[in-house]
Formats: sequence, structure tokens, C-alpha cells
Amino acid sequence: MTTSELSAAVAGMPRIGDPAPSFTAETTQGRINFPADYLGKWVIFFSHPADFTPVCTSEFMTFATMQEEFAAYHTQLVGLSVDGLYSHIAWLRTIKDKISFRDMKDVEVTFPLIEDVSMKIAEMYGMIMPGEDSTKAVRAVFVVDPKGTIRAVIYYPLSLGRNFDELLRVIKALQTADHFSVATPADWRPGDRVIVPPAGSCGSAKERMDGHVDGVECQDWFFCTKEITEQEVESAIRGV
Ligand code: BEZ
Repeated sequence: MTTSELSAAVAGMPRIGDPAPSFTAETTQGRINFPADYLGKWVIFFSHPADFTPVCTSEFMTFATMQEEFAAYHTQLVGLSVDGLYSHIAWLRTIKDKISFRDMKDVEVTFPLIEDVSMKIAEMYGMIMPGEDSTKAVRAVFVVDPKGTIRAVIYYPLSLGRNFDELLRVIKALQTADHFSVATPADWRPGDRVIVPPAGSCGSAKERMDGHVDGVECQDWFFCTKEITEQEVESAIRGV
């Protein structure tokens, strides 16, 4: 693929660092303007392939059960599929009335689920992947920050349900990185050591290597870490 073909292929897909494309939509909770209605909050904007399907049902029950936990990290949930509003409403009612999954039952989904029968929003966000299915959205996740900027993008195929611990970990890691001006290493969880950014912002490389920057430990000039306790992380990003 040439560079211009590559650009054309990805042109319609919002990327990390882009402003989240705006739209107005009907949802199960009324009309929304996205991302304008959510400025000042983090958002997980996600798509699912279809109403009345089992993997999606398990995901919605999990999202709904974790909604308060996401809210504790100032994060709202917004879902989308290319089904219509009446299908959404009937599906969510059936989930509440009839479905149990693991230890979840009587689960009410109160976050907005967008109807997108025209597929305009799904196309705008690159949620339709014709190689997988041209009439359904894949399982896309866009993490949008309080300024309306896309900060993470994760895609799963139709057959694979998302990992919700990971989605929460992504939210905590991005908020921690923003608050403390650090990066988070592989499999980071609150309480693990964080990566200190390149020298300059936190002492020179020599000062850090010599152990002269408080709390910073360097194994080489490019690999420096420091402790931020779980309590410090939680109180910074969650306010507890
Ligand atoms: C599901 O959610 O179960 C599903 C949806 C579309 C294709 C395959 C599975």
C-alpha cells in the first residue's frame, strides 16, 4: 500500500490525539450531543455488533454493573450499535427481565445507547470493518478525555468479549499519567512503580543516574522509575 492509499484508508478513522468527531444522536436516554455534552468528563464510547446477541448481552451487563465504578473515576459510558431505538429498548428490557450472567441479574442499563440505523456515526468512527462484517459494528472502544480528545482506541472482533478490568485499568493509567506527568509500564496497576519521563523535566540524566533526584531510581539513562503509592494515585484521580 502506498502512503497516500494508507492515509485514505485511515482518514475516516479518528486516531489517538484527534478531537472526537462531533455528532448529535438519539439514544435510550434521549438526544445527546457528542462530545459536547461530556466535556469535563472522561468517556468510554463503545460500539457493539447487534442487540439480542449473547456476547453483547454479557458486555452490557458488565458495563452496567461497573457503571458506578467508572463514574468514581469521572468516566461516563456511551454505547452504540446500528440497531434502532425500539430494538435497543426491547433488548435492554429483556436483559433486565430474563438474563443472568455470572453473579449479575436484574441488570438495568441506564447509560445511553445510541441508535445508528444509517451507520453514519459508526462509519465516522471507523467502527464498520467490512472484512469482519459490513452490516455490523465491531467492538470498538474510544476513550475520550475531558477536553474531547481521543486518548485510546481499542478494537475487538465480533466473537471476542471485551476485558473490563483492562478498560478500567486504561482509565486509571491515563488519568495517572496526566496527573503525575509520568508513563505507566507493562501491566501497570495503581501502586506499581511508574516510568519517569525523559531527563530535563525531572533532573538531568546524570543527576538521576547519580541518585540525586528524590525517589527516582535509574537502571540506565533511559529507564528510570519512581514509586507512587496506590493511595496517592487514588486520591489524585478519584479524590478519596
Ligand atoms: C454476540 O454478541 O454474541 C455476537 C454478535 C455478532 C456476531 C457474533 C456474536
